[in-house]
Amino acid sequence: MAATSMEAVVSLCKRRGFIFPGSEIYGGLQGTYDYGPLGVELKRNIKEAWWRANVYERDDMEGIDAAILMNPLVWRYSGHEETFVDPMVDCRQCRSRWRADQVKNGRCERCGSADLTEPRPFNMMFRTQVGPVTDAESFAYLRPETAQGIFVNFKNVVDSTGRRLPFGIAQIGKAFRNEITPRNFIFRVREFEQMEIEYFVKPGEDEAWHERWVEDRVHWWTTLGLKRENLKLYHVPQDELAHYSKATVDLMYNFPIGWEEIEGIANRTDFDLGSHSKNQEELGLTARVMPNEHSTTKLTILDLETNRQIVPYVIEPSAGVDRGVLALLCEAYDEETLPSGEQRTVLRLKPSMAPTKAAVVPLKRNAPEIVDTCKGIKRELQTPGEMRVVYEDTGNIGKAYRRHDEAGTPYCITVDFQTLEDNTVTIRDRDTMEQIRLPIDEVYAYIRKGVMETYSRA
Ligand code: GAP
Repeated sequence: MAATSMEAVVSLCKRRGFIFPGSEIYGGLQGTYDYGPLGVELKRNIKEAWWRANVYERDDMEGIDAAILMNPLVWRYSGHEETFVDPMVDCRQCRSRWRADQVKNGRCERCGSADLTEPRPFNMMFRTQVGPVTDAESFAYLRPETAQGIFVNFKNVVDSTGRRLPFGIAQIGKAFRNEITPRNFIFRVREFEQMEIEYFVKPGEDEAWHERWVEDRVHWWTTLGLKRENLKLYHVPQDELAHYSKATVDLMYNFPIGWEEIEGIANRTDFDLGSHSKNQEELGLTARVMPNEHSTTKLTILDLETNRQIVPYVIEPSAGVDRGVLALLCEAYDEETLPSGEQRTVLRLKPSMAPTKAAVVPLKRNAPEIVDTCKGIKRELQTPGEMRVVYEDTGNIGKAYRRHDEAGTPYCITVDFQTLEDNTVTIRDRDTMEQIRLPIDEVYAYIRKGVMETYSRA
C-alpha cells in the first residue's frame, strides 16, 4: 500500500535522513529543503537512471550542463520577462499573499477574510546582482527552467557533433522560481532540479514525436517503481498552455494530496529557437531596457531533404527531480502489522533506487572477530564503487532490521557465531523478511544480481 498521508512521509524523511527543512537551525527558509544522507542517494539514483535511459541507451541524444546564470536577454527573448507570471492577491486583513488561482471560495487561507485585492501579475524569476557594481544592467536572473541553456547552445551542439534531425539535447540542473505559495513539502519549492530534454524534429513531424515521447516517459516512470495505475495523463486545455506551447500533456501522479504533475511534455514548436534568432522589432517586444540588443546567431539546422536551413520544432519532456523523489517515496511507503502484532514501516523502493543496497550487521557488536568479518564483507561489496553499503551496529539486531526497513535497504547481511565456523552469513530480504544462508564468497554476486536486475527497462 502506498502512503496515505503526506505527514507520514515527511516524518520518515526527517527521522531517517532523507530530507530536512532548509536552514533549519535558523528557523528555516520557506520553500527550501536540504537532502540528507539517504535523500541525496535516492535523488542521484533517479537522475542517473534518467541519464542512462535518455542519453546512454539512445543513439539520438547529447547531454550538456549549461550555466545557471545567463545573459538577461535570454529571458527577454524567451518571453519569460513578460509572461512568466502568476496572478497574486493580497489579504488586506492579515497582509498575507496568495496565488489567485489557489484561493478557495474567495477567502484568505490564513485568516478567512474575503477582503482580498484584485489579482495582479507577479514575475516568478529571482534576480541577482552580477559583479561589484549595482546599476540597471548588472543583474541576472536565476534560471526558472534549464531549457533555455539548451536552446542557446543549439548551434554549438550541432556544429560540434554534426547532429542531424531528429535528435535531442538532455540536461539535469537546478531551476529557481519565486513561488508565491510554496507548499506540500518538496512538491512546490523555490529551488528545485529539472531533468529536461529538448528533442528537435522536422516541422510536421512534431505531433507524432509528441505522442511517442508521452508514451516513452510514462513507461520510464514505471521502470522506477511507480505503478501504472498511479499515473495518468492530463491534456492541458488551450487557455492554460504556457506562452511557448502548442500542446502540453502533463504526467500526473496520485500523491496523498491528490493527482499532481510530475512531468510536462510540451510541443514548443519553433518558438524558442525562432525567438532567439529574431531582433526586438521582429519579436514585437515592448520592454526595451537595452534597445537593439539581440543575438545575430541563427539557430537553424540543415534539412538534408531540401538542402535548406530550417528552424526545427521541439518536443520537450520536462521532469522534476524533487517531485520524482516525492512520488517514489509515496509509492514505496508502507505500514504493516506483523503476525506478532508488531507494527513495521517499510519503504519498498526498487533495489535499484534504494539509497543503501545492503547493511552488514554484527550479531554481537563487542565480538571483535564478528566485527572484523562484517567490515571485511562491507569492504568487498563496496570496492567496485557500484553501491552504497553500510556497517550497522547502532542497536540490537531487531532494531537494525527495522531501521533499514524504513530506509528502504533491500538486504541486511548478518554475521553471527556460525559465520566464524563455516564462513556463511544470513541475508534478510526487506520485503518478505525471509532469511537465507549463503557462503561469504557468494554474497557479492547475490546482492549485485538482486540490485542490477531491477534496473531493467521493463
Ligand atoms: N521547461 C518547461 C518547464 O519548466 P514546467 O511544467 O514549468 O515546465 C517542469 O516544469 C517540471 O518541473 C514540472 O513538471 C515539475 O516536476 C517541476 N517543477 C516546476 N516547478 C516546480 C516547483 N516550484 N517545485 C518543484 N518542482 C517544480
